[in-house]
Amino acid sequence: MNAPQASSSAPSRWSPPGSSRIPFWAYTDDQLYQRELEAIFYGAHWCYVGLEVEIPNVGDYKLSHIGERQVLMVRDRVAPEDRGIDIGIRVVENRCAHRGVRFCQKLQGNARSFVCPYHQWTYKLNGDLAGLPFKDGVKDGDCVNGGMPEGFELKDHGLTKLRVATLHGLVFATFSDQTEPLQDYLGPHVMPWLERIFKGRTLTLLGYNRQRIPGNWKLMMENIKDPYHPGLLHTWFVTFGLWRADQKSRMVMDAQGRHAVMISRKNEGGQAAVTQGVTSFKAGMTLHDDRLLDVVPEPWWRIPDPSNPGAEITPTVTMITLFPSLIVQQQVNSLSTRHIVPRGAGEFDFVWTHFGFADDTPEMTRRRLRQSNLFGPAGFVSADDGEVIELSQGGFRQWGEGGSTLCELGGTGTEMTEHMVTETLIRSMYAYWKKVMAV
Ligand code: FES
Ligand code: FE2
Repeated sequence: MNAPQASSSAPSRWSPPGSSRIPFWAYTDDQLYQRELEAIFYGAHWCYVGLEVEIPNVGDYKLSHIGERQVLMVRDRVAPEDRGIDIGIRVVENRCAHRGVRFCQKLQGNARSFVCPYHQWTYKLNGDLAGLPFKDGVKDGDCVNGGMPEGFELKDHGLTKLRVATLHGLVFATFSDQTEPLQDYLGPHVMPWLERIFKGRTLTLLGYNRQRIPGNWKLMMENIKDPYHPGLLHTWFVTFGLWRADQKSRMVMDAQGRHAVMISRKNEGGQAAVTQGVTSFKAGMTLHDDRLLDVVPEPWWRIPDPSNPGAEITPTVTMITLFPSLIVQQQVNSLSTRHIVPRGAGEFDFVWTHFGFADDTPEMTRRRLRQSNLFGPAGFVSADDGEVIELSQGGFRQWGEGGSTLCELGGTGTEMTEHMVTETLIRSMYAYWKKVMAV
């Protein structure tokens, strides 16, 4: 059987019904990817840029990305009369208003202003153009040579300023005037799970990991919305009892199906029948250093059950996906944000920021770091995900446009569930994606 030939124009028709069969072209088509950047990353969506704790002092900045555009998250001065209403966080594009140079090359730093190296146009921390050399020309005797034309105003030539919204220390920005308020964008179903981790907390920064994964950016979102695979792909999870298909679990999504929370509680003791026949279960496997599994329950894990008034719930894992580019991970004591930075249809960078809380003991900080290494990109779990994403992309590419994936565990619907034997969160994301992309 021959693979169908790829057509030269961008496909725009999604022929299978519903959102349970995702055409391969959704992952491989370059023109479609350019439309995704415009409609999703540069459109009416809030995109994650970083954590407030990364820029504690005036002048601190961090280089980040929204889609393929570089942006700077900056801590600006706040006028005394604006204290309380303005927290001073700005997000500006890293692109000089003169001739387009990405003027900042450092990932993080502190600056009084930003100076473009090419012709030294100088910008304030809020992105306003403060000045430029030879604006009024150069004097030669009685005459003046050159200079900017009459009517040139500094205020018309600042950096692109994005709208900024923060939530309990998380910083989001958007290029669009149309994006709804952040709280509405996230919605009431997802909010309690963000508040459980962040509300009223002072964060501490524990470190970063960065990795480049040769697959489409949506595959990372799918992976974290997919409770089917952890108890099968991840030998480590299965063998050491951190994830099994019979765990108490819940799949939550926002009203539009684009964001989600995968909530689960580790079983106490005993090997359930669910590990029988699972080939990744290795009965004889033990650890040389079992500090990796030194899990200590924390009081904040327990919260009032948002969907069951009067009851409480104590998850050990919550994986929050905020469309389009953020994952917030709690895996027992390890906490991270994971930021997706697309680089073409077939590749993305994945930036992990590991954090803890200001009132952690030194032992808890060590524990979080150890577990972050366990769950991080070079640990025993996520390395598997990076690899299967690469293998998925390879499979899509070798077949061409005629093929599609099959995401029908638990049916073809897009409802919330009280178990993990489902691909509902993937279907719900593609139902939303189809609408935004008008395919
Ligand atoms: Fe930035 Fe000329 S390109 S100053
Ligand atoms: Fe995984």
